[in-house]
Order: sequence, then C-alpha cells, then structure tokens
Amino acid sequence: MEDKSILILGGTGKTGRRVAERLTKLGHKNVRIGSRSGAPPFDWENPATWEAAINGMDAVYITFQPDLAIPSAVETIQQFATLAHNHGIRKMVLLSGRGEKEAQACEQIVMATADNWTIVRASWFNQNFSESVFLPLILAGQVALPRATALEPFTDADDIADVVVESLLDDRHAGQMYELTGPRLMTFPEAVAEIANACDREIHFQALTLEEHAAQLRAYQLPEDYIWLVNYLFTEVLDGRNARVTNDIEKVLGRKAKDFTAFARETAATGIWTPSIQTIDTP
Ligand SMILES: NC(=O)c1ccc[n+]([C@@H]2O[C@H](COP(=O)([O-])OP(=O)(O)OC[C@H]3O[C@@H](n4cnc5c(N)ncnc54)[C@H](OP(=O)(O)O)[C@@H]3O)[C@@H](O)[C@H]2O)c1
Repeated sequence: MEDKSILILGGTGKTGRRVAERLTKLGHKNVRIGSRSGAPPFDWENPATWEAAINGMDAVYITFQPDLAIPSAVETIQQFATLAHNHGIRKMVLLSGRGEKEAQACEQIVMATADNWTIVRASWFNQNFSESVFLPLILAGQVALPRATALEPFTDADDIADVVVESLLDDRHAGQMYELTGPRLMTFPEAVAEIANACDREIHFQALTLEEHAAQLRAYQLPEDYIWLVNYLFTEVLDGRNARVTNDIEKVLGRKAKDFTAFARETAATGIWTPSIQTIDTP
C-alpha cells in the first residue's frame, strides 16, 4: 500500500474524524488534521494558516465550514484549491451537499483545479441527531422543526467516511461524482420516533413553519448568519428536490448503506441520548 500523506480538513468533525481514524487504522502514518485545533492550526477564515497545513501533503479531504452554501464559499474554495494544487496536492475529495447550486459552483472549482478529484455529495447525516444540531432537542425530549412532511434519505457518517477513504486511496474513483443517501426516505417525525423507540423514551415532535422555526432560533439569540444558513437548508434542500434514494454507497463499497434503525439502535446503546448524563444546551 502506498503511504500517502493526507490532509483531513474538519478532521475532528462528523465525517473527518471517521476518515482520519480509518486511514490511521489502515497504516497511513502521515494523516494531518486540518482544523483550528490542529497542529499546525488551519482556519478557513484565515488564509495565512493554509500553507503550513498543505505543505508536504499528497491528498486532501475538504469539508468546508460552515457550509458550501454561504456566499463567500466560492471565493474561499477557489483560493484554497489553487494553493493546494500549486503546492503539489494531486488528489482532492470534496464533501458537498445535494441539490445546492452554491455547492455545485464549489464542486466545479475543485473539478477544474485538481489533477484528480472525487465529489461526494451527501444527504443529511444521521449523526445530526447524535453529534450535532439536533442532539440537544433529542435530549430535551422536545423536537420542534419545520418541513415535518419532507422526505430525506438520511445517510450515516460511517458510510460517508468509508466512501471518502476509498476515494482518497483508489484512483478508480478519479473524476467520479457520488451522491450518497441512506436506504430509505424518512420524515423528521419518523426519524425522531425511531430514536425514541431505540432509547425507550418519550420524545415529542412539534411541526413548525419555517417562520416559527427562525423566530425560535432568534429567541435563543443565535447569530443571524447561522439562522440564515439553517433557514436556507430547510427551505432549499428539503423542498422535495432531494426526496430520492441512490445506490452509490453500494456501488462504491459493495455493501448496503446503513439503515436509520440500525444507527438508532447502535447510538442508543452508547448512552448519548440518555438525558441524565448530558448537559442540555440550546442548539
Ligand atoms: N450535516 C449534514 O447533514 C451535512 C450534509 C451534507 C453536507 N454537509 C457538509 O458537511 C460539511 C461539514 O462537515 P462535517 O459535518 O464532517 O464537519 P463538522 O462535524 O461540522 O465538523 C466541524 C469540523 O470543522 C472544524 N472547523 C470548524 N470551524 C472551522 C474553521 N473556521 N476553520 C477550519 N476548521 C473548522 C472543526 O474543528 P475545530 O473546531 O478544531 O476547528 C471540526 O473538525 C459542511 O460543509 C456541510 O455543508 C453536511
């Protein structure tokens, strides 16, 4: 096995952490975490930090913060991809979203800049319920969200990480665009009911309008940029355009994508959804 030097941007996050763990387990000795807490630190908001993270690397997994949909993403991704290419990074794997035209502009940049690229477009992650924005709501036993009837094929971050690792290591994935989804379409109330069932708790779901949801986030005094982004994601991505399952995970990995029920069962067993051992924060 060729021992590639690989930079994982967002390497402590939901997908990056899993990608870094897998590469290390496979014996790759030069896996560098690119994040504000990395060594050297990498900050998307401070381009002066990028070169030190890029130096000496052969490949990069790009997870952008906070989301490729934000207006400045195109310029930032162009600047980063050009710098990475000029410093000898041949392979770029970009984590993208489905059905976001702003994200597609970033995909085009990576496709035009990298010698060897793979685009991984993912649906909403299962782990949003266990490691991210929805966790405090699950712990509170009260989930209030808009788009309650929208159908989304939630994907597991373990599956995404497996596809990313394959893409980083195997040139058969060069020039490929993958759309990763879980095996079935679900609504938010169905996902919450699965979690409640798996951890044997009562979790109430309340359907909100987009306006009510934004007002609730405002009441929590969350930053306006964040409220804009969340509202954009619920409005654009969950308008029905992505209500479709793909089989790209099976195509790449030769096995089925993980179902939400298995995710809920495994996650419940870790205790992360047990309120008594958690601090409940606002989202
Ligand atoms: N969640 C979903 O359902 C979903 C679906 C499709 C696509 N996506 C895309 O996934 C990407 C996020 O990836 P993820 O969910 O794997 O990561 P994540 O869990 O959001 O992880 C956050 C990571 O980014 C780092 N980070 C935060 N701010 C940073 C900054 N200013 N500069 C550099 N690093 C920073 C964090 O480390 P430090 O704190 O140390 O900096 C951490 O490693 C987004 O682009 C999003 O659009 C998400």
